Amino acid sequence: MSELSFYEAIDWAKLFCGVETFHRKGKPGSEQSKAAWNEKAPSFAHKPVRSGYIAQLIEAMNLEEGETVFDMGCGPGTLAIPLAQQGHSVCAVDFSDAMLAELERACAHVGVPHIDGDAMAETLANVADLPAGTVVSFRRSWQQGWEGLPVADRAIASRSLIVDDLADALGKMEAHAHKSVAVTVGAGDLPNLDARIFRAMSRDPYPMLHRELIYLVNYLLAQRRPPKIAYLSYPGRWHRQTRDELEKAIRLAHAPKNDAEEAALDAYLNEHIRFSEEHGDYELDYLRDERWAYVEYDVAN
Ligand SMILES: C[S@@+](CC[C@H](N)C(=O)[O-])C[C@H]1O[C@@H](n2cnc3c(N)ncnc32)[C@H](O)[C@@H]1O
Repeated sequence: MSELSFYEAIDWAKLFCGVETFHRKGKPGSEQSKAAWNEKAPSFAHKPVRSGYIAQLIEAMNLEEGETVFDMGCGPGTLAIPLAQQGHSVCAVDFSDAMLAELERACAHVGVPHIDGDAMAETLANVADLPAGTVVSFRRSWQQGWEGLPVADRAIASRSLIVDDLADALGKMEAHAHKSVAVTVGAGDLPNLDARIFRAMSRDPYPMLHRELIYLVNYLLAQRRPPKIAYLSYPGRWHRQTRDELEKAIRLAHAPKNDAEEAALDAYLNEHIRFSEEHGDYELDYLRDERWAYVEYDVAN
């Protein structure tokens, strides 16, 4: 029996997929989830670019000149477009029509060549066969088969590893990357989670804020794929158009379990929610350091 057998016997993949996803609607890949992402697409379009997340992510990727990228859960092209502008061709994949429509619009807006991969007459085997700086997009979910999708040098899923079968999802990424697979997962305060609020309810925030990272890294270690980790961090404001919407989002994410936690949360919200004259909406009265982990490992295809 190997010394590590107890560790390898833990089903880290199942733990990862079992993380409560209170801010996500429906089962991963379901029609309900797709509808929710479609609804978010217009407002999502340019938000993350401003935050500094993308610049830090591109730095962490440390791409070589001309390397190609497979961008899974690409959204409106938050990563694909800046990468293409730097001369990397990108295969951008998402299950949301509305996100892909935003991506196409954004490519046209900034003059990045875009090809609708689903409408191509011939199968594209390798992203490197495209002219440098081209984005080719495909409508596909994590849960569907990935036949017909091209291979790139590096595969990444930025804030989009929303899956119910981790081994299957990472296996698909590995089959579409010559060199490495990378994902980002929460590792601290997130747009929808706040350590201070857990502390105010006398709960230890660490496990809540690091669960995905703990399970993912242990899964990879047990698979003998030791990852490299970098942290991306930037100031974020938690805000909503109305006080009601903001309170509801915070309650949902921090889920008080008893009367004492309810009372602590009420007091916290009374103290910290304010109207922002500058933005014309309701916000928490402080900026948080939102923090993501970039987790990358090599593949040998
Ligand atoms: C938080 S956004 C991230 C977008 C972009 N990668 C970024 O970092 O800004 C998550 C993206 O994953 C996509 N997504 C969610 N579940 C998916 C699934 N099951 N299959 C494919 N894409 C999915 C959503 O449509 C959305 O565009």
